[in-house]
Amino acid sequence: MKDILILAIESSCDETAAAVVKNGREVLSNVISSQIDLHTIYGGVVPEIASRKHTENINPVIREALSSANVTLKDMDAIAVTYGPGLVGALLVGVSEAKAISFATGIPLIGVHHIEGHISANYIENKDLEPPFVCLVVSGGHSHLVKVLDYGEYEILGRTRDDAAGEAFDKVARAIGLGYPGGPKIDKVAKSGNPDAISFPRAKVVGSEYDFSFSGLKSAVLNYLNSCEMKGEQIVVEDVAASFQKAVVDVLTEHSVRAVRESGMKKFALAGGVASNSALRESVAKAMEAEGVSFYKPSPILCTDNAAMIGAAGYYEFIKGQRSGYDLNAVPALKLGDR
Ligand code: KG4
Ligand code: ZN
Repeated sequence: MKDILILAIESSCDETAAAVVKNGREVLSNVISSQIDLHTIYGGVVPEIASRKHTENINPVIREALSSANVTLKDMDAIAVTYGPGLVGALLVGVSEAKAISFATGIPLIGVHHIEGHISANYIENKDLEPPFVCLVVSGGHSHLVKVLDYGEYEILGRTRDDAAGEAFDKVARAIGLGYPGGPKIDKVAKSGNPDAISFPRAKVVGSEYDFSFSGLKSAVLNYLNSCEMKGEQIVVEDVAASFQKAVVDVLTEHSVRAVRESGMKKFALAGGVASNSALRESVAKAMEAEGVSFYKPSPILCTDNAAMIGAAGYYEFIKGQRSGYDLNAVPALKLGDR
């Protein structure tokens, strides 16, 4: 069978990324231009700055993705691009670029869902992984527990009612003075802290056993910090980080175990930026082993926003015959499963 080469583009938040992916699972190049340094001084992503930087970066990033894969646009069978969810101005840069290339060259266009991309990151390094499986997608913008029934077919079991897991990490990190982005920093300092030092709540959403809620936990951390300050007590940042992280990881692990038990699925995968978290990887690995369930996780570079995952998801849409028209638009609140 002829190889299928896809040029993938991702610009939904603060990473401008392009990749060339062969047959959905082989990454020929994966270029990521991160804007983190630019947004750090503001303590978070500034949408207008993100859009402007994407505009500056997108052409060089695509050129580099093609040249380091040693291919040209003529070799491409399709162009896959993230069209939602994300920041509208940021998404529009990638979508407009992909449409322009597609229109100029006649290469078919495929709009890809960002979360579907995160899930599909698991296909790249795990050549044997095929649906059905359960996937926990935890990032800065989303927390979803999903049944992956088939390629591109999902059943959402649970989602966050308020903050996403990564958002909680970022907010708590800011409160304890670690800065942005908080997830990797909490992960690092938590290694020298005591996860049982402070008892933070494990929130349950009544009536929706798979849903998450992290805003109560975030408030509990802020209250704890305030009360220490009032009492003149010294805050041990490492202990706060470790105890907060344990509270998040416990809830994510518990829900994941319930999902594999109740679904009877024998495979479980992590995805999204928070899937890089070392405590989460360890806890889920242990729990899934005890359940007799195979555990999959992308390397950290494929957990963070990247275009290789968009190429993987785009490939499965492509072979199903899915194509987007030139009316493809950015959809900031796109739901998983919508087209
Ligand atoms: O998937 P991603 O790169 O972007 C979104 O689609 O949101 O996720 C970024 C999020 C940020 O909130 C960041 O703090 C978090 O992932 N993150 C982590 C770790 N690495 C990144 N959270 C916890 N532990 C980590 N090691
Ligand atoms: Zn993401």
